[in-house]
Amino acid sequence: MIDRETEIAFNTQVAADTYVMGFKAPEIVAAASPGQFVMIRVGSALEPLLRRPFSIGGTLQGELLLILYKVIGKGTALMAKAEKGDHMAVLGPLGRGFSQPRPGKRPILAAGGIGIAPLLFLAQTLAVSKPLFLAGYRREAEKVPFDTFGLTDENLLIATDDGSLGHHGFVTELLETHIHQAEKASAIVYACGPAPMLKKVAALTISSQTSCQMSLEANMACGLGACQGCAVKSSTPDRITYYLVCKDGPIFPARAIDWETL
Ligand SMILES: Cc1cc2nc3c(=O)[nH]c(=O)nc-3n(C[C@H](O)[C@H](O)[C@H](O)COP(=O)(O)OP(=O)(O)OC[C@H]3O[C@@H](n4cnc5c(N)ncnc54)[C@H](O)[C@@H]3O)c2cc1C
Ligand code: FES
Repeated sequence: MIDRETEIAFNTQVAADTYVMGFKAPEIVAAASPGQFVMIRVGSALEPLLRRPFSIGGTLQGELLLILYKVIGKGTALMAKAEKGDHMAVLGPLGRGFSQPRPGKRPILAAGGIGIAPLLFLAQTLAVSKPLFLAGYRREAEKVPFDTFGLTDENLLIATDDGSLGHHGFVTELLETHIHQAEKASAIVYACGPAPMLKKVAALTISSQTSCQMSLEANMACGLGACQGCAVKSSTPDRITYYLVCKDGPIFPARAIDWETL
């Protein structure tokens, strides 16, 4: 795990309220695997005090660490103002990443909104198996360009809530169709997005006996397993009652989580 002041190579708006920040961080890049995250101190002032967690969105040229982020509050608004040459303290890589698919499995990546970030990194590493990428947005203006991450969108299907691009409806509707089309047990689903979407993905994959790993989010203070702030209830209370999203995850099998309490 590395913790250091890291130079920003670029910080570019790529969609509505959405930016890609590239850090010059070859040591983190060398250690990173898809699904892991970093904790970023977004400013030098006391406020915001806590670091903010972000999935590793990808890597470029063996040295650039890419973060895809949406502006939602104080910390991310500060990030949006940062410029090339500025520095931020970056701690990572943290957490457990996705498991690679077994040979013969067809990966289906299902993203909701900014939940696309860790799946872009996964798609970079799965490029040879040509994963099917399903991305859901509220509207066309939120669509994230794949070329920023060195990816092509040849196997990409889009759903929008307002019908402005692709399928008119939820990304889980696309997922349901493709799970049913896949030969039994041939698909493996990787998902990240808002909790209601993940609940639906869990229900779909568990009922169809499709293997599924998903990236969970929780508000995090330490990112290291020390504060217990990111606990989620497990579905197996006889063995382990709570998982820490930062340390035991953020990637979990869909079956491991108690979705009633999320
Ligand atoms: C493991 C992990 C990976 C993440 N990866 C990404 C990523 O790749 N890109 C990205 O844009 N965001 C990601 N997030 C969410 C990101 O950490 C928050 O958006 C960010 O911390 C908000 O900081 P802020 O200071 O702008 O907002 P704040 O001012 O802290 O919060 C503004 C509002 O957002 C809510 N909020 C804050 N954090 C979260 C959260 N984690 N989940 C849901 N609501 C939250 C707050 O409750 C508040 O209502 C990730 C979170 C986790 C735990
Ligand atoms: S964020 Fe502190 S224990 Fe997970």
